[in-house]
Amino acid sequence: MNPEEIKQIDKRHNVHSWTVNDALDPLVVEKAEGVYFWDADGKQYLDFSSQLVNMNIGHQHPKVIAAIKEQVDKLCYISPSMATSARSKAAEAIANVTPGDLNQIFFTLGGADANENAIKLARLFTGKQKILAKWRSYHGATMGAISVSADPRRPAVEPGVPGAVHFMDPFCYRCPFGLEYPSCNLQCAEHVKQTVEMESPDTIAAIILESQTGGPGFYAPPPGYMERVREICDENDILLICDEVMVGFGRTGEWFAIQHTAAVPDMITMAKGLTCGYVPLGAVAISDRIMDTLRGQYLYVGLTFNAHPVSCAAAVATIGVYQDEGLIEKSAQLGEVLLSRITQMMDKHLVIGDVRGSGLFACLDLVEDRETKAPLAAEKMQQLKATLLAHGLSTNLIGNRLFMGPPLVITEEQLHQGLDIIDAALGTI
Ligand SMILES: Cc1ncc(COP(=O)(O)O)c(C=O)c1O
Repeated sequence: MNPEEIKQIDKRHNVHSWTVNDALDPLVVEKAEGVYFWDADGKQYLDFSSQLVNMNIGHQHPKVIAAIKEQVDKLCYISPSMATSARSKAAEAIANVTPGDLNQIFFTLGGADANENAIKLARLFTGKQKILAKWRSYHGATMGAISVSADPRRPAVEPGVPGAVHFMDPFCYRCPFGLEYPSCNLQCAEHVKQTVEMESPDTIAAIILESQTGGPGFYAPPPGYMERVREICDENDILLICDEVMVGFGRTGEWFAIQHTAAVPDMITMAKGLTCGYVPLGAVAISDRIMDTLRGQYLYVGLTFNAHPVSCAAAVATIGVYQDEGLIEKSAQLGEVLLSRITQMMDKHLVIGDVRGSGLFACLDLVEDRETKAPLAAEKMQQLKATLLAHGLSTNLIGNRLFMGPPLVITEEQLHQGLDIIDAALGTI
């Protein structure tokens, strides 16, 4: 099939997500390897966002491909109630890298259903209903996950699932309280405490937070925030769920972004970097404490494709790649190079209002005016995206934020090549 035929059939039958389908002119992609992919005309693109921030080990890693092939030849599917080698090894491999006593693994198919199931487990464990979440959050597109999210993607499909309550973000650059860290004394955490009190602690099952926020802001909470939220949860018998779907598996320079803090959550949800998109898989890591109670009860959770053997085999191989190639440490080291380079760019480009980064997870907050912090106009963001693509760099631009999150296997030279393209493109707007 030639590229034009592929596109025609795609336009006729394929429904794409998060887009105006009529307006979409999809890039026809032929192949990918490492940090690059190529379109059907042979043009090479440097993947500076790991697709949807999930291809942490890069495209087409031979060890993961081999593990998938081996599992397919042996056993493609077996019912979730049975035990099999890939399933046992995957759960053990995750338990070995999660913090604290998060040693119990429930597998899902992706991030949204990991969050759905974490919420159900929180309700089953606490006997309470409400879930508190941040305004700037995205926890997935299924009905329960989008209901706790507070992102422009939610209002279009409301009414959602009842019981979600939102609170203001710990987002220092655009502080909702108009304060500055550290003289703010973590007003954002006090606000969580007040929200809990006003909503009545005996109605709240859990607080769900991205350990570092992705699409709706690309920021880390200020030091001390997660620890304070942990205390508030403990004081009120509320569970803390950390959504690490985007920032888990080395993205921020630790296995899980919560490990930059002293807080240990009751559950961590994960997907993306768990199998890096080679095959779909998500998971909820649950504390021993919770499962010690729930183990004796009938568990009202389940999926036909729970702990799918092929996905589990891919997860074992993927975690092995992170370990063998030292990718978590590499993310931390190259993250410093990335942050230093984008900080220098601020001197040159007034359009950069703020730079934020942790490991190979960074963003430019682009503004019309540094004083007012007014977001850069949507047309200019579109123009920027087109310029980057034309120069062979693919990345995510969300709202006024230019995101940088290349595969963790990127070399320092390739990182600078990508940053050179961004530097030049910023000079054109
Ligand atoms: C923080 C976070 N949670 C949940 C999700 C949803 O994951 P999925 O698209 O695999 O359902 C995403 C997806 O981008 C995410 O970034």
